[in-house]
Amino acid sequence: MHHFHLKSNELYAEGVPVSRLASTYGTPLYVYSARTITDHFDRLTQALATLNHLICFALKANSNLAVLKLLAKRGSGFDLVSGGELTRVRKAGGDVAKCSFAGVGKTRAEIEQALAAGIYVFNVESVAELEFIDRVAGERKKRAPIAVRVNPNVDAKTHAKITTGTYENKFGIAFEEVGALYARAARLKNLRLLGVQMHIGSQITEVKPFVQAVKKMLPLVTELKARHKIEFFDIGGGLGIVYQPALASGRPEWWGQQKVRPLTPTDYGEQIVPLLKPLGLRILVEPGRFMVGNAGVLVTEVLYVKKTGRKTFVIVDAAMNDLIRPAFYDSYHEIVPLKQKRAGGKLVSTDLVGPICESGDYFAKDRPLPALRSGDRLALLSAGAYGFVMASNYNTRPRPAEVLVEGAKHRVVRKRETVADLLRGETV
Ligand code: LLP
Repeated sequence: MHHFHLKSNELYAEGVPVSRLASTYGTPLYVYSARTITDHFDRLTQALATLNHLICFALKANSNLAVLKLLAKRGSGFDLVSGGELTRVRKAGGDVAKCSFAGVGKTRAEIEQALAAGIYVFNVESVAELEFIDRVAGERKKRAPIAVRVNPNVDAKTHAKITTGTYENKFGIAFEEVGALYARAARLKNLRLLGVQMHIGSQITEVKPFVQAVKKMLPLVTELKARHKIEFFDIGGGLGIVYQPALASGRPEWWGQQKVRPLTPTDYGEQIVPLLKPLGLRILVEPGRFMVGNAGVLVTEVLYVKKTGRKTFVIVDAAMNDLIRPAFYDSYHEIVPLKQKRAGGKLVSTDLVGPICESGDYFAKDRPLPALRSGDRLALLSAGAYGFVMASNYNTRPRPAEVLVEGAKHRVVRKRETVADLLRGETV
């Protein structure tokens, strides 16, 4: 579900033609729909309504302050992975008491920052980290609230680079070792054993792996509640979204997106809630992509069309530094011209590429697209998660501006970078 739609053959973000945004703010440009984000939050809240629950948005997916503020106002908590992200949450008015701090490599400075801020919990990923947090908390005369991240060894059947819940991954503590670890942690004076956590991977498009992992965890969680009086079970994030169009049809390619049945919050809730309810614990979830993925597009303009013997390359002004997902994960993003041409036009097999000097700098290969010309503008859909946050300055390319649309209103929520911004801090 999202609020990007075609009206009179033109792509709109909520009530605003995207081409107007491109003209006003330039390209490449990230455009977010506020209503899509808040709808997603509300739908997940609804699906989990009968549980005592807390949604902790994983801001690694999109950490723009305006996006965080939208969610903070809705009462969202946050799952963070760095001191920098904690600073963002506070700046956006988020409640630190609703923050979990994840990640395998928390530094002393980050642990101290999070302790001083009063975050809800540290999700701990190793024995060494557990002992270190205990030591730092002791020095600061605090008791650190902790949960151990359990690796349930369940294969989420997603892309190898984003699966996390098997013993092939660096994450969490092996399921079999968790009981002993809590017994050890209980003897550390500066820790409070508050909960237990898991996360099995990202872009999971079926409920089954979640159900499997939760079922596997239930006896352990019950035991930890009885022995250590833990108050929550955090089941992680990972809810997948729809990237692909469903079917090739006579419609513009992206209409297909409406037809695919994604993993809905309702499906998820219906299968997960009855398993969790009997625990009588607070349930945390850490969705990132689900909340923001379909709420953002990357707008780009065609610079040149280049035909070689075998191929048509369309070179656009956005590149892998702006959106790295296709290059890094071979991921698929729908490509939609901002203004649709008349129906029935021939589709051309196109390689959509950026200006960066790498063959990996592409958004699509051999994709049937309407014939494009220099100056045409396109949107790469579902770029709201792991889009801007993974952008870099490779090739000394300033990162795009970000714009937030709310109904008929739109505003820049991050200015386009300049080359001067990039050179700041360098000396000859
Ligand atoms: N919790 C933990 C502990 C995580 O590691 C992650 C994501 C999440 C929550 C949120 O997962 P989500 O709900 O967004 O699936 N850059 C990749 C995705 C990396 C995900 C890393 N961890 C991509 O563009 O597909």
